[in-house]
Amino acid sequence: MLRECLDALNVQSDGIYLDCTIGGGGHSREILKRLKEGKLIGIDKDSDALSHCAEELGGYQNLILQKADFKDAVIVLERLGIDRVDGILMDLGISSFQIDNKQRGFSYMEKDALLDMRMDVSQRLSAYDVVNDYSEGELARILTEYGEEKFAKRIARNIVLKRVNDNIKTAGELVEIIDASLPAAVKRTGGHPAKRTFQAIRIEVNGELEGLSECITSLTRRLNKGGRMAVLTFHSLEDRIVKQTFKELEIDCICPPKTPICICNKKSEVKILTRKPILPSEEEMEENSRSKSAKLRAVEKK
Ligand SMILES: C[S@@+](CC[C@H](N)C(=O)[O-])C[C@H]1O[C@@H](n2cnc3c(N)ncnc32)[C@H](O)[C@@H]1O
Repeated sequence: MLRECLDALNVQSDGIYLDCTIGGGGHSREILKRLKEGKLIGIDKDSDALSHCAEELGGYQNLILQKADFKDAVIVLERLGIDRVDGILMDLGISSFQIDNKQRGFSYMEKDALLDMRMDVSQRLSAYDVVNDYSEGELARILTEYGEEKFAKRIARNIVLKRVNDNIKTAGELVEIIDASLPAAVKRTGGHPAKRTFQAIRIEVNGELEGLSECITSLTRRLNKGGRMAVLTFHSLEDRIVKQTFKELEIDCICPPKTPICICNKKSEVKILTRKPILPSEEEMEENSRSKSAKLRAVEKK
């Protein structure tokens, strides 16, 4: 979705851009190529991603890298003395770089990997803590809410039973528990049995949905008129939040229909550029199976 994101951002050579999730720097590199007098602020909460970008994109004098949670992006901008920007990109979730690094514990395919899943390794809470310390009820809630896992209660029950003897340490041990919790018929269809549970735990560990809507709202208020915000999501929970937030920002007066004059003073702040989300091309889905669930939504500041 590289080209689609760049089209949505409509990069101007003298603009100021904010990449909230610089990751491996793929999107940022393309933005930087289009800039002349403009600049790009690249944020990530993963220090490895920032070191990688410092090496790969270090030649660009107009790139400012900042380690931060993008929920603090407004503070980052203030610290840098930047009031307004012309474009903001959020490419949510984890990078291939993170999934492929066995030590980070994001992948259910890496049996021996220790349960971790922290994007920011300086944070305390890890997947190990969630799996070994959360109550059965909390586990079931997370798997239901963040994984939309139908067998959440069974999996949570089996996790709790298993850890009575010894803590659950590796991705492989967790996969075995999930596998034993699902009926055979379910396992025959619909992808890897551990996919939804791993997604749920990752979302919990990294607080991926908390404050996302508020963050999008406050960042759009930092856009110049005509500036764009593009958000790329990879699962329906994130997409729902982005869609709803953009709608709320776009809507004008929210007074009840029969109110004679507006008393709410709500003004439309953005124009939605993507009534339907932009999806990856057939070609991209074939080349990169991870792109299959991607959805891109964008708005323009009024
Ligand atoms: C899908 S990747 C981005 C890939 C990037 N667009 C590229 O072209 O390589 C998402 C990145 O966002 C980072 N990330 C996710 N949530 C974040 C947050 N709340 N604050 C800062 N970084 C975050 C992750 O650490 C990861 O590196």
